[in-house]
Amino acid sequence: MSKESLTITDNRTGKTYEVPIEHGTIKALDLRKIKTGDDDFGLMTYDPAFTNTASCKSRITFIDGYKGILNYRGFPIEQLAEKSTYLETAYLILHGELPARAEFEAWVHEVTHHTMVHENIRELMSGFRYDAHPMGMLASTVAALSTFYPEAKAIRERGPRRRQIFRLIAKMPTLAACAHRHSAGLPFVYPDNDLSYCANFLQMMFKVTGSYKVNPVLERALDVLFILHADHEQNCSTSAMRGVGSSEVDPYSAMTGAIAALYGPLHGGANEAVLRMLNEIGSKDKIPQFIKDVKTSGGEVRLMGFGHRVYKNYDPRAKIIKVMADRVFEVKGKSPLLDIALELERIALEDEYFVKRKLYPNVDFYSGLIYQAMGFPVDMFPVLFAIPRVSGWLAQWDEMLEDKDQKIARPRQVYLGAGPRDYVPLDKRQ
Ligand code: CMC
Repeated sequence: MSKESLTITDNRTGKTYEVPIEHGTIKALDLRKIKTGDDDFGLMTYDPAFTNTASCKSRITFIDGYKGILNYRGFPIEQLAEKSTYLETAYLILHGELPARAEFEAWVHEVTHHTMVHENIRELMSGFRYDAHPMGMLASTVAALSTFYPEAKAIRERGPRRRQIFRLIAKMPTLAACAHRHSAGLPFVYPDNDLSYCANFLQMMFKVTGSYKVNPVLERALDVLFILHADHEQNCSTSAMRGVGSSEVDPYSAMTGAIAALYGPLHGGANEAVLRMLNEIGSKDKIPQFIKDVKTSGGEVRLMGFGHRVYKNYDPRAKIIKVMADRVFEVKGKSPLLDIALELERIALEDEYFVKRKLYPNVDFYSGLIYQAMGFPVDMFPVLFAIPRVSGWLAQWDEMLEDKDQKIARPRQVYLGAGPRDYVPLDKRQ
């Protein structure tokens, strides 16, 4: 018997089975041979929300949630946040290695020269209501892009696949800014390919009249935030990207699913929810009552920006964001909500409820305060999460397409409904 195996005894039949262990996992399909008889379907696992099921093998992002470690392709997030740029990190995530100078220059050139969107896209966006949420606009417009690039359907061909990768990374800031300009009733600002990825985005967002000078501190802060949000292995939106993409649909359509998943308040919408929560709390003296409400609400009131499925320690991204927040506040002035956030964190980290459940601040706890200080409206916060996550979604989608183990995603269920019965005509029903 191999030491790298599991011996299972089925007490229903007394039979014993040996199941191989590889990379600390057993194959769920190996359990299928455990049957009570020939007409038994075989054993399955029940794992709602995939809390203990690996759905893929990946070489992109590593997280140790208990130690608070996050690495992209082996590089610690702290080093990337200090030394890299978002576009270099996106290259790394997608290609597996840091680029050589020529590779990097070619990559930046490609991304920079795909920033324009078709005029019809701009017109399409102008059809939204003035108060449309920019995340809804973004999801719909990314879906619409698939109709502009029908070649994107050729997902098995290397060339078209690469082109959609450039396009999506390049166009996302343009679409995001366009959504904001529409809501603000401001004219669209065309991309400026002489600027960096983040400087161009800031200009498209905030330029009103005349020349607009991008503050380098804010440009760098945004770049670091983008690095921190670039990938996070198999989270809800990435699983959506892989799941929808597994049907072999084009990447625009798959990404629409990912954006929709990110929109939710438990995922990328949490940064927006944190700001609204801090505003509602309003002052430091109201914090003890708020914490009490969280603890007694039976899960209904949550301390937004706290807790994580994987991190059972301080989220390493939150630590970096706290440092970036100080730099941004030096330029833009301190947010009045910062003191409430700091006090909320202090109290929660000492409170038995949060300590026992290992609930620590996550990436969203402080990011909203930075975005607000930079002048972004609260509605734009989840969009700011989506822009950099595009590189992670695409890397995961690309990896899935190359993975021979993968097939169309199709979970099983445990059926607990009615047994077979005959249809009753309407006039015979009670
Ligand atoms: N406030 C209060 N209680 C919480 C919180 C919170 N933020 N998060 C978890 N809990 C409690 C939860 O009620 C449960 O308690 P009990 O064991 O008594 O039932 C326990 O902690 C375990 O929580 P869970 O809901 O089983 O954990 P999960 O892994 O399913 O949920 C989460 C993870 C992120 C959805 C959750 O922590 C949460 O809702 N946090 C607030 C929203 C948020 O900040 N989301 C951003 C996540 S990071 C950015 C991203 O990648 O999306």
